[in-house]
Amino acid sequence: MDAVAAIALAKGGQTPMPLDKSHAVAAFTEHFGEPPRWVVRAPGRVNLIGEHTDYNGGFVLPLAIDRAVWIALRPREDRSVVVHSIDFDTLAEFNLDHLAKGDIQWLEYLKATAWSLQESGYPLIGWEGVLLGDVPLGAGLSSSAALEMATARAMAAAAGLAWEPAVMALLGQRAENQWVGVQCGIMDQLISATGKAGHAMLIDCRSLETTPVPFPPGVAVAVLDTATRRGLVDSAYNERRAQCESAAQFFHAETLRDVDLDLFQRLAKDLDETIGRRALHVITENDRTLQAVEAMRRGELEALGSLLNKSHASLRDDYEVSSDALDAMAEAAQAHPACYGARMTGAGFGGCAVAVIDAARADDFAQSVAVAYQERTGHIAAIYICQATNGADVVES
Ligand code: GLA
Repeated sequence: MDAVAAIALAKGGQTPMPLDKSHAVAAFTEHFGEPPRWVVRAPGRVNLIGEHTDYNGGFVLPLAIDRAVWIALRPREDRSVVVHSIDFDTLAEFNLDHLAKGDIQWLEYLKATAWSLQESGYPLIGWEGVLLGDVPLGAGLSSSAALEMATARAMAAAAGLAWEPAVMALLGQRAENQWVGVQCGIMDQLISATGKAGHAMLIDCRSLETTPVPFPPGVAVAVLDTATRRGLVDSAYNERRAQCESAAQFFHAETLRDVDLDLFQRLAKDLDETIGRRALHVITENDRTLQAVEAMRRGELEALGSLLNKSHASLRDDYEVSSDALDAMAEAAQAHPACYGARMTGAGFGGCAVAVIDAARADDFAQSVAVAYQERTGHIAAIYICQATNGADVVES
């Protein structure tokens, strides 16, 4: 992807450049009076295509974006983890030997990750540091997975543990499922752990095999935040999961990954109509994701874009996880001449859309789409032209 690092904001103003390690070092030094021992980061993500397929053992094609959670830290002699959140301006701590639920929301993700690592037998040590980030919260860009992976990376650095990205992603997912209580799939943690600069990542969510797919030259990825959020997303998400499981049972398959369109068409007449549409989305979305990988490899941008557009229609009509705001945003993006294709991204009901666009016309795209979206919905969008970055890493030690 072209080096378009600028962030275009809807109202024409300039947002700050993404955070980098100097911000983390400066924040740590201000609090502790000396530079940190390590600085770690873990990125947020946007999913290009392959939506609501991960918990069906299917394929996804996300990229890690240049918006991340940063932790600067140094080890402690005792078993405490003491963290100053710069964004919430809060100092909080917990003890690795007495992990219990509390009410500081951001701290729960750190505890959850510590719990998950210790449950799997990883020997952790105490540390202290600062936490900061620029992944928009609750926008569907996986700020929680980024926080879990940054915590895991910090814990591993402090305790001198080997960093195995897929293992850490699974532990992050378990932290989210069992401590935080959100039944997410594996996509968000895995891309935050394994992202590769300049590439999207094809993930086989059954085998967890990851295959980097380079962006063709001249292409940019725009993240289009609708500025809408919907609280009911968790219950709707769990309901979709249950519907997919019952569809898989109907086809005597372990997951919908094992059901192809042929089988679906032969048997679907006996399936509940709603469950059938859910299954149809997942089956066709897996196909579209694999086709999107081929289109990227061949540089066929029109074909790639058309797959994104079809994915949006399927999520809107068959899976029913879009919203008026997401539809308006996807349509505004699709109508712009610089756009190859656009769709809602993430769990749905609010949050962000994603568009694949001509990098040379990114500024005009961002301005025009923001205006069109505001005219139609009254909401003020935030539009980020993103770079694909590496996954969680130690950037200074
Ligand atoms: C959320 C979940 C992911 C995935 C997407 C939908 O982001 O955390 O695991 O299921 O929704 O594709």
